[in-house]
Amino acid sequence: MNSPKTIFSGVQPSGNLTIGNYIGAISQWVEMQDKYRCIFSIVDYHAITVKYQPEELKKRILEITKIYLAAGIDPKKSIVFQQSSVPEHTELAWILGCSGSYIADLKKMTQFKDKAGEKQDAVSVGLFTYPVLMAADILLYDTQAVPVGDDQKQHVELARDIAKRFNNEYGPSLVVPEAIVRKEGARIMSLSDPSKKMSKSDSNANSYIFLLDDIAVAKKKIMKAVTDSGTDIDYDPANRPALANLLTIYSQLGNRQIPRLVKDYQGKGYGEFKKDLAEVVAKFLIDFQNKFNNISDEEAKAVLESGRQQAAALARAKMEKIRQVIGVR
Ligand code: TYM
Repeated sequence: MNSPKTIFSGVQPSGNLTIGNYIGAISQWVEMQDKYRCIFSIVDYHAITVKYQPEELKKRILEITKIYLAAGIDPKKSIVFQQSSVPEHTELAWILGCSGSYIADLKKMTQFKDKAGEKQDAVSVGLFTYPVLMAADILLYDTQAVPVGDDQKQHVELARDIAKRFNNEYGPSLVVPEAIVRKEGARIMSLSDPSKKMSKSDSNANSYIFLLDDIAVAKKKIMKAVTDSGTDIDYDPANRPALANLLTIYSQLGNRQIPRLVKDYQGKGYGEFKKDLAEVVAKFLIDFQNKFNNISDEEAKAVLESGRQQAAALARAKMEKIRQVIGVR
């Protein structure tokens, strides 16, 4: 029998998670647990590439763990662990930084360009080499597939290139992974500007819905969401991107296919559609937050510790081989 495919993915514990993170990434993971060997990490060393508060980071690590569990990640089926608790991640990142990674590639990374803005020379080296650490996260576990939102696809492509170059240099030692991106919902857009991705770091609080948002606040944000011109409910991402985004959110959180929604709302206007969407979002959040609030810090810590042991065993074995192929053992 073939051994099951290995899946790896992670979320940075920086800021509140949005429904974009849930729809684009975490909800995909839940569906994969029964089929594949799944490893989900709280990638804390990625969160220190920009200014942060240590106390806040500590709190967020447990928060993200609880979010994974509340979303349906089952630690009996999947490995859930904190990246920094397995030091082989940073060890492999150093090796890949020396072999397989080029400055020119890193300079092309959209996320780096967005985050560094005009000040590309004044940001941390860590922000620049961040995709190499991400490649190490993935390659350390012989990962075949990486379920992510659309914005992380470029980083997974880079991990592929790094793996191939490493293999060319040292012989086949790393599995070349592929990104898995949802057909619908891979890029949930801002509620106030449908040309921008919904992002937890947006300065406009009406642009996103946090998984832990107050329910009344979340409903108001939906009612305030921008819509395109026109009055009927139709799915046309090119010409009516704001409505297409709301339909996608409705479809993903309300479990109704988009064509079905379009049919159901024929002859009805934006007002009614948005009111119903606000209820769908509220229902989802209430259920999610109930589960989240029922998970204690102790439970989350125990999950991380058990995950650490499992991830560490895999990482240790892989790094022993890597150290040999590069000639340090
Ligand atoms: P992060 O923490 O920014 O986001 C976590 C996941 O959420 C997805 N996502 C979205 N999906 C749809 N619509 C949106 N508006 C939206 N915003 C975010 C992201 O694509 C991502 O899948 N570098 C990664 C974390 C990471 C990682 C890894 C992922 C580190 N190592 C190894 C996979 C494998 C990041 O910053 O994601």
